[in-house]
Amino acid sequence: MQPDTHAGLPPTLVPGQPITALAPMQDVTDLAFMRVMAHYGAPDYFFTEFLRVHAQSRPEAHILRSIDENDTGRPVFAQLIGENVTYLARTIEVLLRHPIAGIDLNLGCPAPKVYKKNVGGGLLREPGRIDEILGALRAAVPGLFTVKMRIGFADTAHYDRILELVARHKVDLLSVHGRTVKEMYRSEVHYDAIAHAVTRVRCPVLANGEIASAPKAARVLATTGAAGVMIGRHAIRNPWIFRQCREQFAGQPVTRVTLADVRDYVERLFYATRTEGVPERAHVSKMKKYLNFVGQSVDPHGAFIIDMRRALTAAELFAVCDRHLLADGQKAFSPEPYPEVIARPNCEAAPSETFACDT
Ligand SMILES: Cc1cc2nc3c(=O)[nH]c(=O)nc-3n(C[C@H](O)[C@H](O)[C@H](O)COP(=O)(O)O)c2cc1C
Repeated sequence: MQPDTHAGLPPTLVPGQPITALAPMQDVTDLAFMRVMAHYGAPDYFFTEFLRVHAQSRPEAHILRSIDENDTGRPVFAQLIGENVTYLARTIEVLLRHPIAGIDLNLGCPAPKVYKKNVGGGLLREPGRIDEILGALRAAVPGLFTVKMRIGFADTAHYDRILELVARHKVDLLSVHGRTVKEMYRSEVHYDAIAHAVTRVRCPVLANGEIASAPKAARVLATTGAAGVMIGRHAIRNPWIFRQCREQFAGQPVTRVTLADVRDYVERLFYATRTEGVPERAHVSKMKKYLNFVGQSVDPHGAFIIDMRRALTAAELFAVCDRHLLADGQKAFSPEPYPEVIARPNCEAAPSETFACDT
């Protein structure tokens, strides 16, 4: 079943183009980060990091801020992670009083701490529970109800059944990260499985996973038939990526980013994400999480990453940036990561890192 149009969804920035979305990322996609993305070229849609839903949960204040105070002009979907339909419905009731574009359900988080509680990716083992949850959420959400999923837990045995449930419960938009939970971030992305979803559900599908550049976005759209792309870590690395996608989709030349442009991005990100009361050293540590990704495109040997990891103060960090980004400022920032340069942590589930899902 192919989607007819994006009818019913918020309009894209360029009418008729494929949808672009910033993937939800815990401890990353807060209001400050969304604002920085919007500065360099907003995605069509934002998704909040997941709101944990359990017996005592209340929507986290900083996530609500990313909805209530969002001045990017782009719609924000609120993502939930949980499995108890009563608590989920209670949370939705609260969220409906905020200016959300819709409610998104997380069926993909691969962190063991999460899936062991049978939420996120853990639910992919139990299509019966997904049936119940999708039914309850569809009834509780008068507007747009969206799902973000991986293609299975250990394998794709339940994939077709879950896609059938997505169609039956009239989900409005489905984002598919083309890996199983057990594949974490290690395997190739199974774009063929995303193409399969496109043929099985009624709603538009967003392809997700390793969409590293605008040309890659166009290739993935062509091979999957998806209605759009959802981009996570590669938007941390390259916040121009959504603008570049729009240029690529329109057949226009794609913006070339220089190392000097990246220096500007680092500074903007530093000041935007700084929180009052947080010591300088802690903020420098937080910056290193983003710069791990940025550094993948600065030089082919990861020298920027090695140097920035040693910085302890803001002055040291900016000195490293000046050395690596301004010495030859007109040099191109590589549109794709250099293959030898690995970001660590490179994903949400790295143990003992602040990026870990800790529900
Ligand atoms: C730091 C980090 C945090 C994440 N947090 C969430 C989350 O809160 N909800 C979610 O559905 N996915 C989360 N993800 C997964 C991303 O949304 C996305 O599916 C994944 O990174 C693959 O896309 P990419 O290759 O474009 O990064 C997170 C990923 C990272 C790297």
